[in-house]
Amino acid sequence: MNKTEPIGGKANAELRALAPVEDFLADLHARVSQETGGAPADYIPELGKVDPSLFGIAIATVDGQIYAVGDTDIPFTIQSVSKPFMYGWALQRHGRPKVLERVGVEPTGEAFNSIVLDEVANRPFNPMVNAGAIAVAEMMPGDTQEQRVGNMLDLFSNLAGRKLDIDEAVFKSEMATGHRNRAIVYMMLNTAMIERDPNEVLDLYFRQCSVNVTACDLAIMAATLANDGTNPLTNKSVFDAHYVRDMLSVMNSCGMYDYAGEWAYEVGMPAKSGVSGCIIAVMPGQIGICVYAPPIDTQGNSVRGIRVCQEISSEFELHAFNNRTNVRSVIRRDYRADVVRSNRLRTLEERKILAKEGHKVAILEAQGALFFGSTEQLLRKMGQLAADSRYVVVDFKRVHQADTSARKLIVRAVRSMPGSATELAFASIGEDGRLDRLVCALAENEDGHRVRQFRDADAALEWCEDQILAGTAFGQATKFAVSEINLFNGLNAEECRLVESVIRPLVFEEGDVIMREGDDAKLFFVLARGTVSVQIKVHGKGNRKKRVASIGPGLTFGEMALLDGGKRSADIVANERVICYGLGVEELHELSAEHPNIMITILSNLTREFSERLRHANEEISVLE
Ligand code: DON
Repeated sequence: MNKTEPIGGKANAELRALAPVEDFLADLHARVSQETGGAPADYIPELGKVDPSLFGIAIATVDGQIYAVGDTDIPFTIQSVSKPFMYGWALQRHGRPKVLERVGVEPTGEAFNSIVLDEVANRPFNPMVNAGAIAVAEMMPGDTQEQRVGNMLDLFSNLAGRKLDIDEAVFKSEMATGHRNRAIVYMMLNTAMIERDPNEVLDLYFRQCSVNVTACDLAIMAATLANDGTNPLTNKSVFDAHYVRDMLSVMNSCGMYDYAGEWAYEVGMPAKSGVSGCIIAVMPGQIGICVYAPPIDTQGNSVRGIRVCQEISSEFELHAFNNRTNVRSVIRRDYRADVVRSNRLRTLEERKILAKEGHKVAILEAQGALFFGSTEQLLRKMGQLAADSRYVVVDFKRVHQADTSARKLIVRAVRSMPGSATELAFASIGEDGRLDRLVCALAENEDGHRVRQFRDADAALEWCEDQILAGTAFGQATKFAVSEINLFNGLNAEECRLVESVIRPLVFEEGDVIMREGDDAKLFFVLARGTVSVQIKVHGKGNRKKRVASIGPGLTFGEMALLDGGKRSADIVANERVICYGLGVEELHELSAEHPNIMITILSNLTREFSERLRHANEEISVLE
């Protein structure tokens, strides 16, 4: 657990500057410590014995970082903060319809221990008031009471990420004095809102309220809800994300009882309070907050707890309805293949064709989170590009999530493509699991239309280029004659024949490593048939390789050997069966001693090739910047 206490005494300016959250919490704790309103609950006598000056604030992030100030390791009983978690567990175990039969989701506007029940639906109004929590406690699975209590403790231990126990003194105190809850449970038995032995149900309810926790435990529990039901410390999934949404909805409307409206207005985070003086609040996707300070107000909410949450919410604008999403930023940029080409090295003729026809390929880069608003923007842009493109590539490399609405919209868009003259391709959608559910949704697309998927935008662009070139005289797969190869442009027939005399035809199968990074460079190669990939080691990633370019027929590789004779700077791997010509640097030098024009021509063609690549790279940078 990464826990950072506020930097007191020894803190110096640099350290404080580097600890903005601790710094803020330390100030907040100091200021709210002046707040003296409220009094500890004592209708459960054991609770009245607590030290009223205890005060702790803990914030946990969805990746398990904890910020804590004050009494955050002092145990206290969880009380009503247990209710949303028990409700979540009932949903998890029994599903929504069954749970909704037993308890509603309507705020009562009444106190937590109100005996008002929904006689129309014959159930308690919501699971945050005692009656609803009692109905939920009855749903805890287990054949024996012991098993049920064990399951309940397991739930809270999984949520805290450590084994929790029950404060027997508080349990006994509530059992001895919990007459109002006893009245409630018998009223519920009277109308068959519960079926099991009311004393057993109440026993479990009182035990769940008496579970010992600390403010740090509750901050982690709240962060588990912020993290779609997965405990940030243990990475253990406790609730499915869709049930977390239900829990947060009920916490938002009912969690603070007859203060829920003002809380939603002022603080705007789903929350839950407990009479032991604790409050949890949840910022979905970001943090879980817990404040512990025993003095409570007339509505049963911690006075300092409310102050702290109000201040945190206003200071950092955590109100749920502060607009944080800017759907327009989903489109990073778009460009066309006449200005930006794939990393596939192309012959001069091919480059000319692509400069002329490349506008038929549009590449659209998406970024951020895909949800309804952003996906609608993305697909509208895709549609605009498709209107004047033969191929549209959507690059998802910078998209970190796609929710249900996004998946549904994208599948609908793909389904609508078969009739159109535009071919759609998706890139960087599947390789690292980010968008697995979108990949599954596309695969399950029952109408069978499959959108082409590529490992990255470069591979997609190369494929589109090949389609454009395939329709021209220059899309041919082979270039066997020396005269056809750019490197030898300008050589006369005799010189071509001499070059052919020192050429070594070589054949490689798919996957063969033709040359390896770091090897001595004695040969350079001219590709006659097939394509190869240029791969370099990714720094600090062990043996992981990155494909930086690919080369097709008529082009050369390994020519550095000719220029500086240095070690090989990359691996060259055959993408398929490859035929290429190896030319020994030594032999070529010997040949050129007799026929200097050969080397002069080769070197000037190489220089032209490199300068053309440099020019194009600058052009691309100017477009992509
Ligand atoms: O049932 C009761 O009254 C207590 N065990 C729990 C009530 C509670 O925490 C209300 N919250 N503010």
